[in-house]
Amino acid sequence: MINHYQKIKNCKVLVTGGLGFVGHNLVKELVNKYQCDVIVVDDCSNSYPEVLGDDLKKVNFQQLSVLDSKKLFPLFKGVDYIFHLACKQISSSGKEPHLHLKVNAESTLDILEFIRNNKLPNLKRFVYTSSTSIYGSSVKLPISEDDPTLVLSGYAATKLLGENYTLMYNRNYDIPTSSVRYSNVYGPGQSPTNPYCGVLGKFIHSALKKEPLNIFGDGEQTRDYTYIDDAVSATILAAVHPRAYGDVFNVGTSVETSVNELAVLIENNLEKLTIKYVDERDIDNIRRRSIDITKIHNNLSWSPKTNMKTGIHLTINWYRDFLKKSK
Ligand SMILES: NC(=O)c1ccc[n+]([C@@H]2O[C@H](COP(=O)([O-])OP(=O)(O)OC[C@H]3O[C@@H](n4cnc5c(N)ncnc54)[C@H](O)[C@@H]3O)[C@@H](O)[C@H]2O)c1
Repeated sequence: MINHYQKIKNCKVLVTGGLGFVGHNLVKELVNKYQCDVIVVDDCSNSYPEVLGDDLKKVNFQQLSVLDSKKLFPLFKGVDYIFHLACKQISSSGKEPHLHLKVNAESTLDILEFIRNNKLPNLKRFVYTSSTSIYGSSVKLPISEDDPTLVLSGYAATKLLGENYTLMYNRNYDIPTSSVRYSNVYGPGQSPTNPYCGVLGKFIHSALKKEPLNIFGDGEQTRDYTYIDDAVSATILAAVHPRAYGDVFNVGTSVETSVNELAVLIENNLEKLTIKYVDERDIDNIRRRSIDITKIHNNLSWSPKTNMKTGIHLTINWYRDFLKKSK
């Protein structure tokens, strides 16, 4: 069987949003497992260079915005793969809809246009990281790529637009692209000091600090949680696999977990938690989610490797260390 991952070994790679939660985990894997020559582009609006630890000196870090095309485009010279992860987070999309449009979608169009007009001879794949939030509140579960989308936030609108540009530039101009739609990624490296940190990170952080866990609504809302290493491996596969060319793939587990169940899973590793039920926010308008991963499994032979029990255990250990170091 061909090991497609090996194709990225020693390649020149550019990662936008490469200091973010998914981004810096992806960068670490590219640098350490595949010895890639990595350019990290990030404006530090939602992270900082030190998240890369000792790996910072192994990369070419460029603090700049993906909207600054004058500085960004020259960096594409000789690049084999581009991973476009820079984004504004869902929690701010109600407040800053225009900025979301610019960073999440317009920057994607700008990059694709540049690729179209400049024919980068080395470029093998441009990967866009979309989101399963584009499915909205589907009644049919698990949700597959062929199911209708239902946009319920400015964030989802811009991610769907960025993804559509990515697919269209492949269909119409033969630009080598692919997209992944992540579902609630969690795990080590999701900084609790980041105001947009996911629910699982927030819960573990609060639990370790013996603070109450805030649950929005009744806690019966469900999501499909993906461990970070699985999200990273799917993203690299979307770049290197020939059958990912011009296509889009769900990345999740098909396992539905409610927020109340999450609290119990965390409690199993720690002691009794204090739970506080608070009013839902405007972005809490999706009741249930689980993701059909048949397509990525059948076409790219990808399956998640880490279940919730192990993932939560690993995440708790990471947060413990993080809190110890930040004392
Ligand atoms: N984490 C998840 O659960 C999840 C789920 C679905 C989709 N996604 C997608 O995955 C990608 C990565 O998400 P994440 O969780 O790592 O987010 P993140 O916020 O941790 O990382 C995004 C990074 O982009 C940077 N950034 C923001 N605006 C920028 C700009 N104008 N120029 C350059 N850099 C900029 C931020 O500083 C940050 O480091 C995003 O495209 C997101 O939409 C993530």
